[in-house]
Amino acid sequence: MIIRRVVAVIGYLIVASAAQAADRPRGVTFFNSVLPVVQQRCQECHRPGEIGPFSMMTYEEIRPWAKAIRQAVLTRKMPPWFADAPHDMFLNDRRLSQQEIDTVVTWVDNGAPEGLPEDAPKPISFSDGWRIGQPDTVLELPEYYVPASGEIAYQFISVPSGFTEDKWVQAVEPRPGNPAVVHHIRVLAREPGSKAFMNQTPETSEQRQQAKSHPKDDGSGFLDGPKVGAEEMGAFVPGGDPVLLEPGQAILVKAGSDLVFEVHYTTNGKPQMDRSRVGLIFAKKPPDTRVMEIALANYNFRIPAGAANHRVDSRVTLRQDMTLLSLWPHMHLRGKALELRAIYPSGESEVLLNVPRYDFNWQMSYVLRQPRLLPKGTRLESAVYFDNSPNNPNNPNPGVDVYWGDQTWEEMNIAFMRVGLPPGVSPVDVRVPPLTPPDATGQRTVDATSRKEEQKPE
Ligand code: HEC
Repeated sequence: MIIRRVVAVIGYLIVASAAQAADRPRGVTFFNSVLPVVQQRCQECHRPGEIGPFSMMTYEEIRPWAKAIRQAVLTRKMPPWFADAPHDMFLNDRRLSQQEIDTVVTWVDNGAPEGLPEDAPKPISFSDGWRIGQPDTVLELPEYYVPASGEIAYQFISVPSGFTEDKWVQAVEPRPGNPAVVHHIRVLAREPGSKAFMNQTPETSEQRQQAKSHPKDDGSGFLDGPKVGAEEMGAFVPGGDPVLLEPGQAILVKAGSDLVFEVHYTTNGKPQMDRSRVGLIFAKKPPDTRVMEIALANYNFRIPAGAANHRVDSRVTLRQDMTLLSLWPHMHLRGKALELRAIYPSGESEVLLNVPRYDFNWQMSYVLRQPRLLPKGTRLESAVYFDNSPNNPNNPNPGVDVYWGDQTWEEMNIAFMRVGLPPGVSPVDVRVPPLTPPDATGQRTVDATSRKEEQKPE
């Protein structure tokens, strides 16, 4: 009796679902296959108020772009991603799987059918506000007037933190007030007594003097924060993410610090006002890991005029155990590729980051799924390639030799690394100072006097 009833019910289910299936368009439709991909992989940027040039929220919005979308996913121009790495290496890997690409291409090739709205996945709810969640405190910059045209030098704007005690910060989100004219914002914490980033001009910068005095490639390098007495907290950059650390990890902002904002304003034909902000979330208890951003780079290089594939090496040996959390390669308009390798004390080595086609317009970080322990004695080596030839469409002038400098027509070769350290370690303990250039005998030594100078906060 019971068995017969069950069979009847099953029979009914089969008939009912067959009838339903007959109404459905066969194959790949927007609602049954493409929208899920678009939600997961595109809407982050392609929605109102974000950096994508058109919105991808509805079929009506997406349909006119079908051909361009096919091309963009086939060539892997979209979503933007530049590291050559196993798919499971970086948490924020944006690349589509081959199956996702095939879905989009098949859909466009079949005439981009809409399908049935009831097949659609639930919409993703994006928070229009802070991506880090509700900040504990928000610091605002003064209003800045951006003229209609012209180039604007980087602005270094200080805002007192007002912190009367040392604070451990777990999340940092700089937000432009007017995204149309803000290319990027970097936020640094400058501790009391430090003059870092005060009266900064490209001509007076210490880096520039150094670049001028050692204009030969020597394969040396150094490891450093951006400046003594100022620590990188976070950035707003095209394609970037806010800093959202794991529980137990935090960035130290000392009592009485100023927050220094490096803002790159760009003009867009209309005079505009901007008022940018940064939101901070404090750690609920003292962390067991102090997070700081350090940089591997080398000032000692000269990129000859016209050189199509000029390589600059940087090498350091770590003086502290540290845990590598994420990486951010940074070059300027002639930047072409970067590879960063770790040679562990055991003799084993590993490529930590390989960016074979760097694009200055995308300042992307790569967040390791599995943080790497880099023990004291690990050697870090980067190889950075520049294209100073006329074939580089971004090259502002292939006819000049190029040296280190802040401006986009000068160059940098930085592998920024966000690392975790025991809370008592100071940035000074982590630094590996630049080597002096080779002397007449070809010997290179660490310059003890300049090293002492460097340990003093500026
Ligand atoms: C991290 C942000 C981001 C993500 C994620 C993203 N886009 Fe874009 N997309 C942009 C920006 C910014 C541009 C304009 C600049 C450019 O073309 O590089 C753009 C441009 C485009 C264009 C125009 C390309 C052209 O050649 O003019 C297409 C088409 C496109 N995106 C499709 C997609 C699709 C499809 C996805 C998801 C599979 C996606 N994008 C994911 C930011 C993004």
